[in-house]
Amino acid sequence: MQKLRKTAWLLAVSQCRGAVLATSMPSTLGPFSPAMLTTQLIDYSHDAPFAPSDGIPRVLGLSIFYPTTTNTTVATSYWPPENAAEESEGDIASGVNITYQGLLSLTVPLAPPNTSIAAPPANASFSSWPVLLFSPAFGEARFLYTSLLRQISSNGYVVIAFETAYDTNVFVQANGTVVEGNSTLDNVSTEQATLSAEARAEDASFILDHTHENITWLIPGCKDTCVNTTNVGMFGHSIGGAASAVAIFADSRIIGGLNYDGALLGPVVQKGFTHRPFLIFGTQNQSRHDTGPLTTLTNWTTVWPRIKEAPKWWLLLNNSRHYTFSDLPLIAQTLGVKPNGTSVVAAQLTDADAQRSEKALVTYTTAFFKSVFTGKVQKLMKGRSKKWPEVVFDSVSLNEKSKNGGNGTDAQPVNNGVLEIQALGVGKAIGMVFLALFTVWYV
Ligand SMILES: *[C@@H]1O[C@H](CO)[C@@H](O)[C@H](O)[C@H]1NC(C)=O
Ligand SMILES: *[C@@H]1O[C@H](CO)[C@@H](O)[C@H](O)[C@H]1NC(C)=O
Ligand SMILES: *[C@@H]1O[C@H](CO)[C@@H](O)[C@H](O)[C@H]1NC(C)=O
Ligand SMILES: *[C@@H]1O[C@H](CO)[C@@H](O)[C@H](O)[C@H]1NC(C)=O
Ligand SMILES: *[C@@H]1O[C@H](CO)[C@@H](O)[C@H](O)[C@H]1NC(C)=O
Ligand SMILES: *[C@@H]1O[C@H](CO)[C@@H](O)[C@H](O)[C@H]1NC(C)=O
Ligand SMILES: *[C@@H]1O[C@H](CO)[C@@H](O)[C@H](O)[C@H]1NC(C)=O
Ligand SMILES: *[C@@H]1O[C@H](CO)[C@@H](O)[C@H](O)[C@H]1NC(C)=O
Ligand SMILES: *[C@@H]1O[C@H](CO)[C@@H](O)[C@H](O)[C@H]1NC(C)=O
Ligand SMILES: *[C@@H]1O[C@H](CO)[C@@H](O)[C@H](O)[C@H]1NC(C)=O
Ligand SMILES: *[C@@H]1O[C@H](CO)[C@@H](O)[C@H](O)[C@H]1NC(C)=O
Ligand SMILES: *[C@@H]1O[C@H](CO)[C@@H](O)[C@H](O)[C@H]1NC(C)=O
Repeated sequence: MQKLRKTAWLLAVSQCRGAVLATSMPSTLGPFSPAMLTTQLIDYSHDAPFAPSDGIPRVLGLSIFYPTTTNTTVATSYWPPENAAEESEGDIASGVNITYQGLLSLTVPLAPPNTSIAAPPANASFSSWPVLLFSPAFGEARFLYTSLLRQISSNGYVVIAFETAYDTNVFVQANGTVVEGNSTLDNVSTEQATLSAEARAEDASFILDHTHENITWLIPGCKDTCVNTTNVGMFGHSIGGAASAVAIFADSRIIGGLNYDGALLGPVVQKGFTHRPFLIFGTQNQSRHDTGPLTTLTNWTTVWPRIKEAPKWWLLLNNSRHYTFSDLPLIAQTLGVKPNGTSVVAAQLTDADAQRSEKALVTYTTAFFKSVFTGKVQKLMKGRSKKWPEVVFDSVSLNEKSKNGGNGTDAQPVNNGVLEIQALGVGKAIGMVFLALFTVWYV
């Protein structure tokens, strides 16, 4: 499988580099114009977890999104050709007409390279931009979240997305060397998933340790104090969401975390944590009040009562699937590709408007982190909104005073979500298929 993939993408890269028509993603939503730069850091103090042998350092790939005030944008390549090629051969394109040409043609409007970072607004409560770390799903490149992350950054955040060689299907090092993912990524065990989540949490701490020495100087116009690494937030998709919980558990600089539909792993599940707000954002069939496999396999119900003395949310996004929490729907919509209903990727797409779904994620993600950084639960986070009927407040514990010593017991669930069981409950066979999918997609 991996060999096939490799041959295919090498072929594709050699034949098709260059000459394609660009297909642009929509413009940015927030008040700032986001800029992006990429860089690499090497952590010699930790072995790369999925490398073929011991003693290979971790090579981290970083995408840094930061707010600017420019009003010009340039159509920027969505991802490197190697990633476009890999995705066209991999799960994302499986069963739908997502071609290498199409994936390579994608662009996203961003501030021109070298645009200076904006100064925080004079009326802001902070003088250094808040930082959010982001970790992608298992095997996925950080590029699969470029649109979502630039939208979040446009609301006034420096977003640092990171991934490591071997723990991602294809990774292009700064010197051009292409590293293929560990072949076990196609069928990961719980032990390996846990190893990945724990490694990513270490990576998050490593990045925070090195932000001022190795990252801020790369951002044009950034004085050393332009970003604040004293207190940061972390979020992630799938195993990246699990990594956010592990990182909160391990590093007190991370003061809030958000998990996009990831099964939680490691000691944090039993031990929980205190004083750090947390948001679990799942798909519609994962109510806390359901005892089905989706809520038990994710360990969410285990960790939930163990998150104490801080506000916490269990939200569900109606008409979503696991990969709604990535750019996949927007990629398909931008390329004019519709799923035919039977493929793996089709199982990851719904008929929801991709821009609407992205906006819902951006709106709730930024409202959550604003609550974290200001210490004040934002209005939007207090209950279901008429403007966002698709966002269900399945369970929530606001408990605002708990930071000062409350006891963290649950509030009454706000507006229980109607359980919309799609794959489950329509017969054992389909349930089993979904479970099989679950093991593939939920890490
Ligand atoms: C960070 O920068 C210092 C000084 O330039 C350099 O010696 C070090 O190797 C860099 N660290 C990483 C992880 O890139
Ligand atoms: C894949 O990762 C595992 C560790 O989880 C390692 O033992 C194995 O050697 C790696 N396989 C390859 C082909 O690199
Ligand atoms: C930005 O917009 C302002 C007002 O619309 C205009 O005067 C200015 O020329 C624009 N700047 C750039 C760099 O395009
Ligand atoms: C839908 O995609 C699957 C998976 O590639 C394929 O086997 C099937 O023939 C397609 N169905 C239609 C109606 O195109
Ligand atoms: C698949 O998409 C390409 C453009 O990306 C188009 O040229 C081709 O006709 C499409 N094939 C089918 C079967 O729709
Ligand atoms: C960005 O700035 C650097 C240093 O000032 C310069 O070398 C580089 O050419 C600039 N890049 C672009 C795309 O303008
Ligand atoms: C700061 O000013 C801007 C524009 O004047 C306004 O939109 C924003 O709501 C203000 N923010 C705060 C925190 O007052
Ligand atoms: C950085 O964040 C910390 C904690 O939120 C805050 O106390 C500090 O004032 C911030 N620093 C700047 C320069 O904004
Ligand atoms: C490319 O960079 C990696 C990581 O620093 C290093 O291990 C490798 O030897 C380099 N390859 C070449 C061809 O320079
Ligand atoms: C995945 O691994 C498990 C055990 O590690 C094995 O039972 C299963 O057949 C594998 N599935 C695939 C699709 O390779
Ligand atoms: C978390 O979930 C996995 C998969 O269901 C399970 O194997 C593991 O034991 C759970 N961990 C804890 C700490 O409950
Ligand atoms: C914890 O909160 C519950 C519900 O508000 C309350 O009944 C209980 O007395 C509190 N316990 C302590 C120790 O404060």
